Amino acid sequence: MELCQISGQLAFKSGHLPRNSVTRMTGAPDVKSPNRIFITGMGFVGQALAIDLKKQGWDVSGTCTSINKKKRLAEEMGFDMYLFDANEPDLATIDVMKFHTHMVVSIPPVTGFGDPMLQHEQLLRKALLGGNLQWLCYLSSTSVYGDCGGAWVDEDYPPNPTREVGKLRLAAEKGWLQLGQSLGLSTKVFRLGGIYGPGRSAVDTIIKQEALSKSQRMRGYRQFTSRIHVEDICQAIEASIRMSSSREIYNIVDDDPSPREAVFEYARDLVDRKWPGWIKQSSEKRESTETDKQDGLLGEKRVCNAHMKKELGVRLLHPSYRSGLQNIIDQMDKPFSTL
Ligand SMILES: NC(=O)c1ccc[n+]([C@@H]2O[C@H](COP(=O)([O-])OP(=O)(O)OC[C@H]3O[C@@H](n4cnc5c(N)ncnc54)[C@H](OP(=O)(O)O)[C@@H]3O)[C@@H](O)[C@H]2O)c1
Repeated sequence: MELCQISGQLAFKSGHLPRNSVTRMTGAPDVKSPNRIFITGMGFVGQALAIDLKKQGWDVSGTCTSINKKKRLAEEMGFDMYLFDANEPDLATIDVMKFHTHMVVSIPPVTGFGDPMLQHEQLLRKALLGGNLQWLCYLSSTSVYGDCGGAWVDEDYPPNPTREVGKLRLAAEKGWLQLGQSLGLSTKVFRLGGIYGPGRSAVDTIIKQEALSKSQRMRGYRQFTSRIHVEDICQAIEASIRMSSSREIYNIVDDDPSPREAVFEYARDLVDRKWPGWIKQSSEKRESTETDKQDGLLGEKRVCNAHMKKELGVRLLHPSYRSGLQNIIDQMDKPFSTL
């Protein structure tokens, strides 16, 4: 997919280096390039987006928290990488952020604390003011809706999170929207369903015979769980960069909210057909507790993606977990050699 350059009121101030900025670092983005993205938190989604945009000619910078990861992403993948602790953000890295035209925030809130970067909101606002940023996207979660009794919920449905994780997300959404708007940026919040893709999916869990995480166990009790393939998150972000839209918040989910058990059954079947005999035992249910069950049942909703499709023009590559998982297993040649 080709990305258009941003024009009109989003025009890049070519060559302008903001006041108090650090000088251009080796490998740092070329400020003459009109498409420069800074991804705070080069995790699963961040890396997929970085790879996609780099292929399309973007300058891509990002953060991570470990030296080894920085080395890998910089040396092997060619991204401009910064070590960054959001709890104690350093000014030099924030200064680099404002050389960019676009920014994605992918760092999650911390339990008992909140969004780590927004704890330094004044510092961020001051440092980012007068830079080149035009567009900011905060990656949030459908957990903000809380329990909706299985109803279909769109972005106008009043969020009512009951669990701490959802409350912190909602506060982070508000904080990033306010910060972005006060800086005059086009600011978006993307509420993501459960993220899956190559290396992180029901197929991978079964092949590796991994135990489920607490949130996976909780979702095991739900009739409806929204999910989204990482490739579709990337195309939604890219669509939002490409076109202006009046809405600030978008649900980014597929068309098929389904029980986790159905997804695992389908994945088991795919694995069994491709590598008969590999699945010796299922480790998926063994650690569930009564608390998981109660927490899980508190989150019932079916998240609607109509605005994403209509206003951002997204045509899902994987409208259901079926095509998403099929695509993942089709790309696996020798999964066991990496275990
Ligand atoms: N997993 C899901 O199903 C799901 C569903 C909805 C929304 N989300 C949210 O969507 C976003 C993207 O998801 P993802 O799966 O790509 O997340 P991820 O793989 O966990 O990546 C999170 C990134 O945040 C960085 N990070 C975490 N704490 C940090 C801190 N204190 N300081 C600096 N960096 C920090 C991590 O850095 P290092 O890797 O270097 O440590 C990593 O790059 C996240 O906010 C996630 O919580 C996830």
